[in-house]
Amino acid sequence: MKMFFRLSFPVQKLIPQRCSRIATTRSWKYKHKKDTGVFARPMLLQLQRSYSTSHQHILRNEHLESGDADVYKILSEDMKVIPDFITEQEEQSLLQEAMKVVKRLRYEFNHWDNAIHGYRETEKKNWNELNSQIIKNVQHLAFVQQDCPLAYVHILDLAQDGFIKPHVDAVRFCGDTIAGMSLLSSCVMRLAQESDKNMFANVHLPQRSLYIMKNRARYEFTHEVLKDEESFFDGKHISRQRRISIVCRNEPRPEDTS
Ligand code: OGA
Ligand code: MN
Repeated sequence: MKMFFRLSFPVQKLIPQRCSRIATTRSWKYKHKKDTGVFARPMLLQLQRSYSTSHQHILRNEHLESGDADVYKILSEDMKVIPDFITEQEEQSLLQEAMKVVKRLRYEFNHWDNAIHGYRETEKKNWNELNSQIIKNVQHLAFVQQDCPLAYVHILDLAQDGFIKPHVDAVRFCGDTIAGMSLLSSCVMRLAQESDKNMFANVHLPQRSLYIMKNRARYEFTHEVLKDEESFFDGKHISRQRRISIVCRNEPRPEDTS
């Protein structure tokens, strides 16, 4: 299995909020200073894209489907989807601010690290009042009290023909919870057990929904966003247009940063 790294976040901006939970003699930033080069990247596990289709019994709820009962059980707990988390108006408001910053960037198609194909991304700390409130709502729902949300929120603009390959976000750079809103398009996210890619589930993320991936879903499963032509849920094609995701993460676990 080929392993390499990908830059999920523009690392130069990964400056953490002050956080008492990991207050040490050295700040979080200092501890990572030497890592903020090209290798400050979430790990990507390059996995083959063939999956067993022999499952007889598909377990399914509104957003999750899997042919494996254990996977279904784990992800029913650790991968939540909240449909219509934002209104159309709120989506427009987020898009307006997000577009302003991404439009200056170029889409990466054949980037050396190749973890995401057809994308541009940035991070943003300061948002207008309405958008700050939406982000606060996400953080309030996704994180527990002792969690420290990263101050910079990740904006990922995936082109219509772009896709995200299976990977696990680097544990050194973000914590146990990843919470993302899908703007402009619905998609299917596939979560596969890192130890056995045939043990997977498909997760339907409708436009304007929020997903909260935590604990085992975050650490033990790879996640990917399928191409339009592979994008199926409950036997139906889920059209994958250009998609902008706004993703909130929390600070890494102290044991992962030393
Ligand atoms: C990532 C990622 C998911 C999303 O950027 O590492 O997996 O919802 N993004 O865009
Ligand atoms: Mn990721």
